[in-house]
Amino acid sequence: MNDSDLLATVPIFSDLSAKVLDELLSRMTKRSYQKNNMILMEDEFGDTFFIIASGSIKITRVSEDGREVILAMLGEGEFFGEMSLLDGETRSANAIAIEESNVLILKRHDFLLFLERFPRIAISLLTEMAGRIRKSDQQIESLSLSDAEHRIGITLIRMAEELGTIRQGKVEISNLPYQQDIANMAGTSRETVSRMMKILEDKGFIKRSGHSLSILDYSQFKRTFS
Ligand code: CMP
Repeated sequence: MNDSDLLATVPIFSDLSAKVLDELLSRMTKRSYQKNNMILMEDEFGDTFFIIASGSIKITRVSEDGREVILAMLGEGEFFGEMSLLDGETRSANAIAIEESNVLILKRHDFLLFLERFPRIAISLLTEMAGRIRKSDQQIESLSLSDAEHRIGITLIRMAEELGTIRQGKVEISNLPYQQDIANMAGTSRETVSRMMKILEDKGFIKRSGHSLSILDYSQFKRTFS
């Protein structure tokens, strides 16, 4: 997919005409990051907004004792870096490439100019940010209330929604994150993820093969864990 086709599929730009998308693209620069490269660092000042053209990015914070907490995993067509442009504060979190990734970058001035010129972008941005707060609320609830099996269950539901494809009641996640990353999303250890995945598999909830995972009856899984 070329960059204009990609921009047209980005939900927050879905209402823009081809002409405006071209103008937007002409203001953007492109950058590539290798796996594990840091794109944004928490607490730094920044003046750039990012759209993911390909690959995937994790949004993290590091706890006092050095543990990584994954707040979100973002993929093609999604954005990040908007918060500090909007409130003028430092970056709220780190952004790290999970795999080789390409991003399109817009400077603060152009980002704010487009929001003013096209209020529908602002509304779409707010819609997406509301969705992110909902997910964070679920994550807080899961981290504070649930036992390990439920935390892993809730994390798998989140990955199913973000990365999976649903067909005939079954979800396939073909690019399953590493167990350490799943642990950092669920607020538990890699060993617990490994143990709980085995239990979920033995109970017939999931099936694994290589880097793929299927949730066999997604409605039942959601009823059990959310
Ligand atoms: P900014 O604060 O500029 O830099 C870090 C970025 O991470 C932030 O903008 C958001 O784009 C993104 N981010 C921070 N917290 C979350 C979250 N809970 N869910 C998804 N993205 C987030």
